[in-house]
This record gives sequence, structure tokens and C-alpha cells, in this order.
Amino acid sequence: MKTGTKSLLFGVHQVFWHPLTVCRAWTRLYGCPTFREMLCIVIHDWGYWGAAEMDGADGAGHPELGAAIAGKLFDAVHRDLVLLHSRRYAKEHGLLPSKLCWADKLSIAYDPEWFYLLRARASGELHEYRRQAQSWVPLEESDRSWLRWIKARFTKSAVAQRRKSAGHPRREVNFAMSAESDEV
Ligand SMILES: [Fe+2]
Ligand SMILES: [Fe+2]
Repeated sequence: MKTGTKSLLFGVHQVFWHPLTVCRAWTRLYGCPTFREMLCIVIHDWGYWGAAEMDGADGAGHPELGAAIAGKLFDAVHRDLVLLHSRRYAKEHGLLPSKLCWADKLSIAYDPEWFYLLRARASGELHEYRRQAQSWVPLEESDRSWLRWIKARFTKSAVAQRRKSAGHPRREVNFAMSAESDEV
């Protein structure tokens, strides 16, 4: 079974659990999501199905499936909400990330360490994520240290973007951002 499929079934992007944590993060950042936003949160990572690597060529295009569904069900605004939840995808297309990007990043703060690591190990994602972050957290360090580093980094950037946006109401839909390249 491909890593992306395992991720959705029992890994980091588990189809029931991950949206719950994103929903909690969204509520913290923006208040309660609308029904349409909630559905976008549920489907945003479905495109990982069948992806060999989370950040490989097929994994990088993962926002497209959910975006196509949101576009069909709702409108272009919700399509873009899903499509641009990936900083990498947005950057590659010369666009700004959507609100969902920051809720997605902050969601890790709502994942208990033991449960996140259990899923990441079971799906095989952990190795890929650790490899990508090895310049910051050497592979010799524990998985728990790496996770704490990621949690702190993502929480800080999501909250900072929210604050920036609050000072610039016109940027509410697409946050102006200092595009970091990591997509761990
Ligand atoms: Fe994603
Ligand atoms: Fe996600």
C-alpha cells in the first residue's frame, strides 16, 4: 500500500482524526467554521490517496482532488481554500496560501504526541518527515524532540500569520506571508 493511502487510513492524515484537529485549529484562529468550510477541512487531504511519497511529485499535487470536489460542490472561493492549503503548492503556482494552510499547520498542536508518533510510524511517514527536517533536528535526536520542534515552529508561524492578518483586514482570505519552504 502506498504511503499516502496509509496516511489517510491510519497515518498522520487519518481521514477522521486529522480534520478534527484542523477544525480545532481553525476555531482558534478564525472562529467556528461554516458548513462549507467544515467540508473543505474534511476533504482537503484526500488527494494523498495513492501517493507514493508525501512530498514527492504525486504527493505535492494532493490539494487538487479536494479542490476539485469543493469547486463542484460550492464555488471557486472554496476550491481555492482547499487548493492553496499547501504552502508548497501555492508557492509553485505563484499564489498565496489560503486560511486553511494555517489551520492545517496549527492542527499539530492538537495532536497528542504519542498518538501522532504512533500514526506517523505506522504509516512510514515519520522517516520521510525526519529526513526533510534533519538540517534542524539531526536524525540522532529522538522522534519526540523532532515533534516538539515541529509543533513549536508550526504553532508560532500560524499564530504570527493570524496576528498579521488581524492588522490587515483586506488580507483575510489570503494571508500575506513570509513563505517558508518547509512542508514537513
Ligand atoms: Fe495537505
Ligand atoms: Fe491537512
